Amino acid sequence: MSLKITVIGTGYLGATHAAAMAELGFEVLGLDVVPEKIAMLERGETPMYEPGLEDLLRRHVAGFEGSSGRLRFTMDWAEVAEFGDVHFVCVNTPQRHGDYAADMSYVDAAVASLAPHLRGPALVVGKSTVPVGSAERLAAYLAEHAPAGADAELAWNPEFLREGFAVQDTLHPDRIVVGVRSERAEKLLREVYATPLAGGTPFVVTDFPTAELVKTAANSFLATKISFINAMAEVCEAGGGDVARLAEAIGYDDRIGKKFLRAGIGFGGGCLPKDIRAFMARAGELGADQALTFLREIDSINMRRRGQMVEMAREALGGGSFLGRRVAVLGATFKPDSDDVRDSPALNVAGQIHLQGGQVTVYDPKGMDNARRVFPTLGYADTASEAVRGADVVLHLTEWREFRELDPAALGELVADRVLLDGRNTLDPELWRRAGWTYRAMGRPNA
Ligand code: UDX
Repeated sequence: MSLKITVIGTGYLGATHAAAMAELGFEVLGLDVVPEKIAMLERGETPMYEPGLEDLLRRHVAGFEGSSGRLRFTMDWAEVAEFGDVHFVCVNTPQRHGDYAADMSYVDAAVASLAPHLRGPALVVGKSTVPVGSAERLAAYLAEHAPAGADAELAWNPEFLREGFAVQDTLHPDRIVVGVRSERAEKLLREVYATPLAGGTPFVVTDFPTAELVKTAANSFLATKISFINAMAEVCEAGGGDVARLAEAIGYDDRIGKKFLRAGIGFGGGCLPKDIRAFMARAGELGADQALTFLREIDSINMRRRGQMVEMAREALGGGSFLGRRVAVLGATFKPDSDDVRDSPALNVAGQIHLQGGQVTVYDPKGMDNARRVFPTLGYADTASEAVRGADVVLHLTEWREFRELDPAALGELVADRVLLDGRNTLDPELWRRAGWTYRAMGRPNA
C-alpha cells in the first residue's frame, strides 16, 4: 500500500511540498485555513511567483485535464487526519511583533487542530523553521492530546528550499535531514523520500534538536558568508581594493568555495534575516547568547549596506540633498526569480531615497504588484527603459537576468548623465563603461 500524505499549510513551503509529493507518486491532501488560498491552488495558481510551481500543480491537482488527480485540498481537519499516514506541518514561523523570536502560534495551532482527530498509526512531521526545543515540546503535546489508539508520533524534517528554485530544491535536495525517535518514523520517512534517496541524496538521521538546529545553523552560515564578503567590501572601499577579485581569489580555495560571496547591498527575504534573529533570541532563552553574539554583527553589517548604497547614490549626485533629483531603481524584490519583497534591500534603499526627497522610479520584472502594495508612494515604471528615462542616477539593486541583458548604449540615450551604481556586482563594468557610463559598484575601485 502506498503512503498517503497530507500537507498542512499551503503557503510557499506547503504548496511546493504538496505538489512535489504528488510528483513523487503519492496521494496528497493539502489543508489550509484560508479558503481563497485553496481556491487558487485548485485553479492551479499560486499567490506567489515561483518558476515551475504552477506547471507542477497543474500536473497533479484533481480536476485538470490530463492531471494525475493525486493532489486535492481541504479545510477539514478530520478529513486530513482520516486520510493521511504522514502529516507534514508546513506553516510559517514569522518574526514575532515586539521582539526577534519566532512566532510559533501557527505551528502550535496546526498541531493542536490535528491532534484530537488523529487515527493511528500517524506520523506528524514538522518542516517549519523553529526554535530548538520546539519538536520536544510538540511531541509531548501530541502524546497528551492525540487519542489513545492513534499511536501518533512526531518527527522533524527541516526544509532548505530557496525561492526561485523551490521546485528543483524540493525534488532534488542536497540532503534530507530527519530528527526521529523511532525506527518506525525513520522507515516511513525513507519511504516518503525513496525516489531522491535512490538517486543518491544523503540522508542524515538524527535527534530532534540537531534536526532543528541544522536549519538555523545552515542559514546562519549563509548569512555569515554574505556579511563577511560585505565587510571585506567595506575594507576594500576604505583601503583600495576590488572585492569581486578578492572573492574570486579566496573562492578558489575549496575550503572557502565561490558561492555566496557576492558583495552588494546584502541579504533580505522572508528567511535569512528573521532566522538569524530568532536564533539569537532562542540562544538567549537557553543562556547561550554569547555563542551567537557574532550574528548580531552579521545582521548589522547587512543592514549597514543599505545605508551605504544610499550614500553612494548621494555622492554620485554630487552630495547634499536628494530633493528634486531623479533616481531610477532597477529591482524591487529581495532576489531574482521571485516576486517577494519581504525585507528587500532594494525596496529599502528605494524607500530611503524617496523619504529623503528623491524622485524615485522603480522597475522590477515580477515584483511590481507587491512593491506597490508595500510602498505605494514610490514611483513605478512598466519597463526598465521607462524607469531610466530622465534619471540623474541609475541604481541596479536586484540581480535579474533581464538587467544583465540591457543594452547600455540604448539606455544611455535616455539620460543626460550616464551614471550607474551596481548594488549587486553582477553587471559587466566594461560593457557599461564602453557605452559611456560612469559605472560604480560596491567594494570596487572606480575606473
Ligand atoms: C534562504 C536559504 O538559501 C535557503 O536554504 C533557506 O531554506 C531559506 O533561506 P532564500 O531566502 O530563497 O533562501 O534566499 P537566498 O538564495 O539564500 O538569498 C538570500 C539573499 O542573499 C538574497 O537577498 C540574495 O540577493 C542575497 N545574496 C545571496 C547576496 O547578497 N550575496 C550572495 O552571494 C548570495
